This record gives sequence, C-alpha cells and structure tokens, in this order.
Amino acid sequence: MLSKKMEKALNTQVNNEFYSAYLYMSMSAYCQSMGLKGIANWFMVQFHEEMFHAMKFYEYILRKGGKVSLQTIKQPPVEFGTPLSMFEQTYEHEQFITKCINDLVETARQEKDNATEIFLHWYVTEQIEEEENDTDMIAQLKFIGKDTSALLMFDKELAARMTTIPTEFSKGVEAALKGA
Ligand code: FEO
Repeated sequence: MLSKKMEKALNTQVNNEFYSAYLYMSMSAYCQSMGLKGIANWFMVQFHEEMFHAMKFYEYILRKGGKVSLQTIKQPPVEFGTPLSMFEQTYEHEQFITKCINDLVETARQEKDNATEIFLHWYVTEQIEEEENDTDMIAQLKFIGKDTSALLMFDKELAARMTTIPTEFSKGVEAALKGA
C-alpha cells in the first residue's frame, strides 16, 4: 500500500519520465532533419530508455495497489542548437531528474515506505550512468569543436548504439525483462 503523498509523487515522476522520452524524441527528430542520423539514433535509443523508466514506475504503482493518474505531457522544444548545446541541455535535464529521484527517496523515508525506497535504488544507480553518458558526449564534442569531419565520424559511431532494454510493455515491464 502506498500513502497518498507517495502515490502522488510517483505519478509526478511517471510524467517526468514521459516528458524525458518526449524531449529526446524531439531531439532525435531535430538531428535527423540536420542529416545527423547517428546522433538521431542515440536519442531515439534514449527515448526507449525513458519509456522503460516511466513504465517501471507505472507498474510499481499498480503492483502496490495504487492509482495511476496520467497527466498532460508538456511540449518539448523543437530547436536545440549545436550538437554540443543539445548534449548540454540533456545533461541539465538529467541533473533535474536526479534531483527528482533524490526527492522521491526523501519522501519514501519520511513516509517510512521501505519498499518504495528500495525500488528507487535502481533509479539512483541509473542516474549515475545517465549523467555520465552526457558528460562523456560533452567532452568528446568539445574536442571535436568546429571540425566537421570529426563530427561526422562521431555521428557514425553513435549510429551503432542499440537499445538494451525491453521496448514491448503490453505484458508489463517485469515480464518483458524476463522475456515472457
Ligand atoms: Fe529516466 Fe534519463 O532518466
């Protein structure tokens, strides 16, 4: 059972994760329209990761007997500037998500909700990787600077990124993880 406060906070995070998916899909479209198909692929993989994050919260709320309350997803930007600026915006967004996860952990502690606190540990660890991915990209793009051939090589490398998480959630996230 979830307290009302915990349930509301988890539902807000479902929305934050869907917004993240929306934001990265918009970035992917922006890159695709610039001809940077590798970076577009990287962001489309990120879109799937965020959908997975959202659905993991969704399933958890239901498993705990809570009510899923879907909210309006705000419109993401359409223009993002240079690839460097785009990854800086991504890093900034991920720092916001890390803060949201930390706040959720704090709420779980206040509510003495050990199960939710343990559930959130997965996200705490995930955010380390999410922020690290972005800082790696920012460092590489700073090296590349205005060198367009290096940027095209970077784009080619990112074309190889494949999603490692399930993308089919009709039977639930946990079932998809087990390949059921
Ligand atoms: Fe769901 Fe990128 O954090």
